[in-house]
Amino acid sequence: MKPKSVAASAIHDQTAVVFPNDLNAYGTLFGGRVVDLCDRVAGVVAKRHSGKSCVTLGIDSVRFLAPAKHGDILVFKASINRVWKTSMEIGVKVLKEDFRTGEQIQILSAYFTFVALDEKLRPVEIAPILPETSEEKRRYQEAEDRRQNRLRQKR
Ligand SMILES: CC(C)(COP(=O)(O)OP(=O)(O)OC[C@H]1O[C@@H](n2cnc3c(N)ncnc32)[C@H](O)[C@@H]1OP(=O)(O)O)[C@@H](O)C(=O)NCCC(=O)NCCS
Repeated sequence: MKPKSVAASAIHDQTAVVFPNDLNAYGTLFGGRVVDLCDRVAGVVAKRHSGKSCVTLGIDSVRFLAPAKHGDILVFKASINRVWKTSMEIGVKVLKEDFRTGEQIQILSAYFTFVALDEKLRPVEIAPILPETSEEKRRYQEAEDRRQNRLRQKR
């Protein structure tokens, strides 16, 4: 299969605004809500890259780095780090943006593993990626270590 670039499926600035029904009991953004949004954004990257239906196999290394509050703008960034045969790792970052100053602070990072499925819901082969920039190459290398950890945990 012909390799595809990381840029072809990457999302750089998907935005959402924090509303009152996104908040937890402390009045800050509920973690489950932001992970839900990340899963959807990462799912778009997985579908765009593979051209297939994709399901989330796992989410790991979720880190909530800072709280967000009502009215903050959330900026989602997601890109494919590596493809194996039928699975792929998508890295996601979320920033909060203060619309008054434009200041952006990272509030979340996580890795999502998706599997592409055929019409009979069986795992199906995905086109490889062609890491081009030094950052894409670093993520590509590091993704293999994370996969080995996941497979070790599975065993
Ligand atoms: C995703 C699913 C189809 C995979 O089924 P499976 O029987 O594990 O299929 P396979 O054994 O062929 O594995 C598929 C891929 O997942 C990878 N995989 C399986 N378990 C893994 C783990 N713990 N960590 C990392 N990768 C894993 C396999 O290595 C394989 O990848 P590869 O082909 O790139 O090497 C199945 O687990 C499933 O349907 N899960 C539910 C998905 C879901 O409902 N998600 C939430 C809603 S979207």
